Amino acid sequence: MKHLTFILTAAWAVTAAVGAPTLAGTEPPVVGANLVNEPYKQTAAEQEATFRILQAAGVHVIRAGIPGNDQGLAFAQGAYAHGIKIEWLLGVYPDPGTPWPRLPDAYKSKGLWRGWPLSTANADAFKANIGAQLAELESKGVVLAGFELGNEINWTGFNADFPLPAQGRVLNEKDLASDPEGRKIAQGYLRYLQTLAALKDIRDHSMLNRRTPIISGGLADLDDSGKWLRSVKADAVSVDATLHFLQANGLDQLVDGYGLHFYPLAISPGSAQGQAALRAHLELNGLTQCAPPGAAKGKPCWVTEWNFNGLKGLDACPIDDSSRIAMVGEMRSVLHDLADQNRLGGSLYYTWQGQIHAPKEDHDSAFLCGALTESGRLAVAPNIADLMAGNLISDTHSEAIKQRPCDIYAAGNTPCIAAHSTVRSLYAKYTGALYQVKRASDDAAQDIGLLSDGYANAATQDAFCTNTTCVVTRIYDQSTKHNDLSISSGGRYKGPGPNGSDLGAAADALPVTAGGHQVYGVSISPGMGYRNNRTSDVAVNGKPEGMYMISSGTHFNSGCCFDYGNAEVSGTDTGAAHMDAVNVTEDLSWADCRNEPGLGVQADLENGLFHWNQRSCNPASNVSGGHPFISAWLKNNGQTTFALKWGNAQSGGLNTIYSGALPAGYAPMRQEGAIILGVGGDNSHASAGSFFEGVMTAGFPTDGADNAVQSNIVAVGYGAPTGLAGTLMPGSEISLQATTACCIGDYVRNLNGAVVIAPITPSSAEQDKSDATWIVRRGLADNSCVSFESRNNPGDFLRQQNLALHMQPFDGTASNRVDATFCPQAGKNQKGSSFHLVNDPTRYVRHYYGKVYVASDGDSTNPWSTPVHWSDDVSFIVGPPWSP
Ligand code: AHR
Repeated sequence: MKHLTFILTAAWAVTAAVGAPTLAGTEPPVVGANLVNEPYKQTAAEQEATFRILQAAGVHVIRAGIPGNDQGLAFAQGAYAHGIKIEWLLGVYPDPGTPWPRLPDAYKSKGLWRGWPLSTANADAFKANIGAQLAELESKGVVLAGFELGNEINWTGFNADFPLPAQGRVLNEKDLASDPEGRKIAQGYLRYLQTLAALKDIRDHSMLNRRTPIISGGLADLDDSGKWLRSVKADAVSVDATLHFLQANGLDQLVDGYGLHFYPLAISPGSAQGQAALRAHLELNGLTQCAPPGAAKGKPCWVTEWNFNGLKGLDACPIDDSSRIAMVGEMRSVLHDLADQNRLGGSLYYTWQGQIHAPKEDHDSAFLCGALTESGRLAVAPNIADLMAGNLISDTHSEAIKQRPCDIYAAGNTPCIAAHSTVRSLYAKYTGALYQVKRASDDAAQDIGLLSDGYANAATQDAFCTNTTCVVTRIYDQSTKHNDLSISSGGRYKGPGPNGSDLGAAADALPVTAGGHQVYGVSISPGMGYRNNRTSDVAVNGKPEGMYMISSGTHFNSGCCFDYGNAEVSGTDTGAAHMDAVNVTEDLSWADCRNEPGLGVQADLENGLFHWNQRSCNPASNVSGGHPFISAWLKNNGQTTFALKWGNAQSGGLNTIYSGALPAGYAPMRQEGAIILGVGGDNSHASAGSFFEGVMTAGFPTDGADNAVQSNIVAVGYGAPTGLAGTLMPGSEISLQATTACCIGDYVRNLNGAVVIAPITPSSAEQDKSDATWIVRRGLADNSCVSFESRNNPGDFLRQQNLALHMQPFDGTASNRVDATFCPQAGKNQKGSSFHLVNDPTRYVRHYYGKVYVASDGDSTNPWSTPVHWSDDVSFIVGPPWSP
């Protein structure tokens, strides 16, 4: 039993199933997660992000309520459109006129009686309402994974037939027959069975859901000592007594599975003793009642909620996931045995994600700190047979990784000679490190390796960089050529780093999701760049080659040169055809491009970004459209021809920009074989952009291979940072609303680089809304605080300079990091949040006469530190973004 936060209303229900469940129950068990925190109340964009992340994690079934209104219908349709079926959590309908049970005052904070008294359950009302609602869902083609009636009906929490005040009793079968309290509960159980019969009738006469299983409401497990019930002064009926009573009164004729909830206590996770205790807890709470389909007595069990009590390490970011990983392994080992015996219908982890707008995350979530945790990934992994305890990692590894881009190119005889990514392995068999980070606190370096499914283990970075900052110092080449990229040491143009070198990208500036994991991309601001001037087997002097990079369609500028590919080994401009790099930028170099500027994909062949073989603008190279992830492609046979393509890295195929002759003066090519990222051949470093992965091949790849790689990229499920909005969690998109009485319609916004508060309303211009939208990033100078990146000027951050706030590009310097890092705390006027400078806890972000500053309370050195209205002026409501 868990102290759950959701309210079971008459219109609630939950279920889940993968594939087409059969009533005979011979399908493999359904595996999925709860999504019970009113997810249908999220915006359409938030729901879309949630569904996409669920999809990427392989979740095909969620347990959720579906309210009988447009919101509920849209939510169910949206899930179904993403291949996600809902195990519908339904509640009973009460007799007309029944008042919602009012909690005695002493229980107000305890959240009990969140369900109608079952003795008022009215089967006719249920039939009329749910029958109509199911018909509407079916008219939209929605097939469900299951119907689950009621939630934890065996204790005070969700069944108001239990009296309050209570003593913490656990009633047994005899009590249900003879004890006054027990008899009242038994009456309710009988009314519950009548509603179950109505549900069966609805299901049996439905159009699309006749084979959808009915599951009895998940019963609350009781803690083994009874201490918890006594402490909250609530009563319960044991799981076995409840099931025996219901069976004796016809349960098995009405349902296809028994719903059970398991929250065992974490006792020495990972030990034999812990595993034995966990199994004993489950057996005490219903496990022995689970039977194969068709058994004389009993039904397969649906564990419609499971998680653990007493786990530590999950309340702060980064989490310590080790105990939960061990417990998930133990739990899934028991479930695996049950499945082997054909006694398991489904397993639905509690929970996928708490309220996404809640100020604090629900530590039971699979998705925590902006990412799917490893324990969460294992808890919801679809194939239970692959997840037996003891070989969780190795068994999933082979399943998850099949083919990666460099396997595809190798099969086409154009093998990779360079493969760089901070996100994922680019070969199925690559097991080495992806990149290296260095932290500011002690200059120590750390390699970031892979999770079992070939995605970056970003948690290693988070742990290593806690309370300090890290930059990416090296991106390893995954090919056998060891063409690693390091921070560029400079060239014709010196960088702002030591001895004219460039700067490294902040390691946590670009959190995104890929493969269902939170990982980091490389966010390049002017002054940053990577290079290798001493490579092996990169094309030189007219040899053929191909390359692609995954970049961003929203984070770019027009500075020279956001390149990935082949460049001069000297870091200087040695003339036409000495470079062959794919370039993503707003190219203003050709006069006719300046009429309609926008992001484009070009070939940097030196002394020219070529859109085709002319020194002019090719409209086809324009890829503006705001795709957050794009793939940019260049291949060159080195003698006569080259081709440029681009794709949306989240969906669809490739678009050809140009395929034909090389420009005059560039045939044959004279490549030199250095590799660059984020700079030009001569180390021009004025560009901004994002990099997630890129490869270079030996030989001119076929279009078929490129297309297969594009599909492989799309399958990654590159996603927006977290899909979060309105919270201070990294990746969340937000608005910051003033709370001073004068200005409650005002929001913090960028106004041509200055930062002000100004009114924004739903009818404001898109540009204004976008200027008032910010993306929360981990603090650039201290990752326990936050930084705010501009929504419409990616790479620009809120920062203080001379105590006034500005929006400026992140330049990677230590002072810029500090000036752009703010530490949140509760609003000084009890509303929203206040943010102090990371290096000065007395100075808070404050608005004053329309402009935004940092101010201390009553410091007389400047007018904006006046104590008048100080606590109101420094308090801001973190709300949903104006421009998601
Ligand atoms: O070709 C465009 C740029 O021009 C190259 O990257 C750089 O080397 C030169 O400045």
